[in-house]
Amino acid sequence: MKNSIGVFAGSFDPITFGHIDIIERCLTIVDTLVIAIGAQHSKAALFTPQERLDLIAETVKSDRLQLVTFDGLLVDEAKRLNANFLIRSIRNGQDFEYEKTMATMNKQLSGIETINLFANPQYSHISSSIVRQIAKMEGDISKFVPKNIVNSIKRKLN
Ligand code: COA
Repeated sequence: MKNSIGVFAGSFDPITFGHIDIIERCLTIVDTLVIAIGAQHSKAALFTPQERLDLIAETVKSDRLQLVTFDGLLVDEAKRLNANFLIRSIRNGQDFEYEKTMATMNKQLSGIETINLFANPQYSHISSSIVRQIAKMEGDISKFVPKNIVNSIKRKLN
């Protein structure tokens, strides 16, 4: 497909090495990748959506990457962006069931297909909330997130 647009949506609170791996792999699949940061979120957030966007912008750089925050249905944002694909990541069996439901529902709502990439095994145990929890308890998170994110979390928690 020419000029394909993929939307990788998530909360990214904060972006981790696992997300970065997925982003790099997405860029080999689609021409333009939009990272869509969900603003309306039930999880207790550490960073505001704009802060998360700024942190992603300083962490991953590509002229084929766009960053947006969105509030509402992911498929509405994807349609606004003229996206061809939604992209999500599966780390384990638990993610599989959840992602299957989301992909099926989003397809039914919009007709847009979801591409699910399996997380690289070296990152399949990482989640943003575990990183936040370890950081709050002053543990070492440098194996899970880049240096700029380590520093931003430290600043945020102090
Ligand atoms: N590496 C590291 N972490 C990964 C990962 C990978 N490869 N793949 C998933 N994760 C983690 C994330 O860090 C996140 O961790 P957390 O729960 O500790 O925060 C978790 O897996 C999954 O969360 P995330 O990818 O952020 O998705 P989400 O389920 O929280 O959903 C939205 C975020 C914004 C996509 C979702 O809420 C949404 O679509 N909202 C819009 C409303 C809507 O359209 N609803 C209908 C859907 S059918």
